[in-house]
Amino acid sequence: QKDIYILGIESSCDETAASVVKNGREVLSNVISSQIALHTLYGGVVPEIASRKHIEKINQVIEQALADAHVTLEDITAIAVTYGPGLVGALLVGVSEAKAISFATGIPLVGVHHIEGHISANFIENKELEPPFICLVASGGHSHLVVVKDYGEYEIIGRTRDDAAGEAFDKVARAIGLGYPGGPKIDKVSKEGNPDAIHFPRAAVAENEYDFSFSGLKSAVLNYLNGCQMKGEEINQADVAASFQKAVVDVLVSHSLHAVKAYGLNKFAIAGGVASNSSLRAAFEEECGKRNIAFYHPSPIFCTDNAAMIGVAGYYEYIKGVRSGYDLNAVPNLKL
Ligand code: KG4
Ligand code: ZN
Repeated sequence: QKDIYILGIESSCDETAASVVKNGREVLSNVISSQIALHTLYGGVVPEIASRKHIEKINQVIEQALADAHVTLEDITAIAVTYGPGLVGALLVGVSEAKAISFATGIPLVGVHHIEGHISANFIENKELEPPFICLVASGGHSHLVVVKDYGEYEIIGRTRDDAAGEAFDKVARAIGLGYPGGPKIDKVSKEGNPDAIHFPRAAVAENEYDFSFSGLKSAVLNYLNGCQMKGEEINQADVAASFQKAVVDVLVSHSLHAVKAYGLNKFAIAGGVASNSSLRAAFEEECGKRNIAFYHPSPIFCTDNAAMIGVAGYYEYIKGVRSGYDLNAVPNLKL
């Protein structure tokens, strides 16, 4: 049987990325041009700047991905591109580029859901992992608890009612003066802090036991900081970070394990930017270990936005026969 080479393209937020993936799980190249330094100036992603930067970078990122993989477009079986969810102007750059290459060469086009990409990142380094399993997707834009029933077949059983987990990390980091992006910084300073120093709330959502809510936690941290300021007390940045992080980790772990048990599965995976959090990983290692649940997580480079995960997801869509037309459009609020 002929080898299948997928060119993955990702531009949904502030990473311009391209990758070549062979036969679904072998990453031949993974090029990521990050705009983080540019957006740090403004304390967050500025959509207009992101789109402009994607346009400047996308051609060279794709050329590099092909060169690193030692292939040319003639070897590519299909082009997989993220078409949502994300920033519309940013998504449009990748989608237009993918359509243009497809139109010029006749290589088939496959539109990919960004979250399906994040979940699929787990297949890269865990060759034995196969559905069904439960996946927690926690990033700057999403906090989803997903039952992965089969390749490309998902059921979202829990989601955030307000802020995403990564968003909470970013907002709290800003409030305690750590800057953007907050997740990695909180992760780092938390190692110096006491996670039991301050008790922050672990919010439950009455209507759905798998749903998350992080805005109350964020407010509790802000109230705590205001209280300290009014009383003239000094703030221990590391203690606040560690206590906040523990509150997030507790909720993510308890909801996830509850779902794994309720659905009678023994495999659990995490994905998305927050999945690189060291405390979250350690908690899952421990709790899954106790329960004989196999725990999977991608390396940090495949947790953050990248195109290898889009190539993997695109492979499974491609072999199912999914093809996109030249009317493929960017869908900022695309549903899984
Ligand atoms: O998946 P991602 O790269 O982009 C989105 O699709 O949103 O996730 C970025 C998010 C940011 O909110 C960032 O602060 C968070 O992931 N993040 C982390 C860590 N590394 C990145 N959060 C907690 N701990 C980390 N180590
Ligand atoms: Zn993402």
